[in-house]
Amino acid sequence: MSSRKPVIAGNWKMNTTPAEGQTLAKAIADGTRESPNVEVIVSPPFTGLSDVSQAVAGSNVQVSAQNVSSEQSGAFTGDVSVSMLEGLASHVIIGHSERRGLSCETDGVVAAKAVAVQAAGMTPILCIGETEDIRKLGNPVESVRSQLRDSLVGVSDWESLIIAYEPVWAIGTGAAASPQQAQAIIGEIRQELEQLAGPEAASKIRILYGGSVNSNNIGPFVDQPDIDGALVGGASLQADEFVRIVEMTARLENKTA
Ligand code: 13P
Repeated sequence: MSSRKPVIAGNWKMNTTPAEGQTLAKAIADGTRESPNVEVIVSPPFTGLSDVSQAVAGSNVQVSAQNVSSEQSGAFTGDVSVSMLEGLASHVIIGHSERRGLSCETDGVVAAKAVAVQAAGMTPILCIGETEDIRKLGNPVESVRSQLRDSLVGVSDWESLIIAYEPVWAIGTGAAASPQQAQAIIGEIRQELEQLAGPEAASKIRILYGGSVNSNNIGPFVDQPDIDGALVGGASLQADEFVRIVEMTARLENKTA
């Protein structure tokens, strides 16, 4: 762990009604009050943003949307623009592998979203990561580095950016990458950021690991020099488990601070 403030973000994906989200968010807000040295973010579906943002008001917990359009308004049925998130979210997850895969979002589309999110004063949580096929071919590094470069075209605000490295084969499978595997790629991601943003800016950008993270395996991930927290899927849907992940991270942070 470094001097960068760690981030634990929960991606609820297509789960929780507004009422369930409100209950979950309240429990997380209550449970993480004693961990102010960790940035805690929850990401409900669009329909839950309003109730969840009210539920966490005045707490340590910030709210992220799971997606957004790069367009400002108009004939885009089913989409939501950055201005519609005003007052509801401080962060937006973009380029999640489920959107890249199921909705055919290209790096170019993701880059346009990153620019729109920053222009609206919010922080993108940019997801990148190699598929199982690319992993099998041997060396995923170049694929991840080029995905990063191409998903950041047009971005110039390096202070408002979080990266999440989520190897697709580790998402929802229970088979997390090893902390060493994740560190190796995340170290490469930081090198790529050095080229894009310069060494000083790159040293401040938080890079998270995502893929089958839980309270039993979080410790060794956040112990790695370049890993600044986690983007958590399934385990973020249970308040106790998610709070434990935050607590483990806070404990390690206190030890090294
Ligand atoms: P899991 O933690 O369920 O593997 O999901 C990871 C993820 O996709 C977070 O965005």
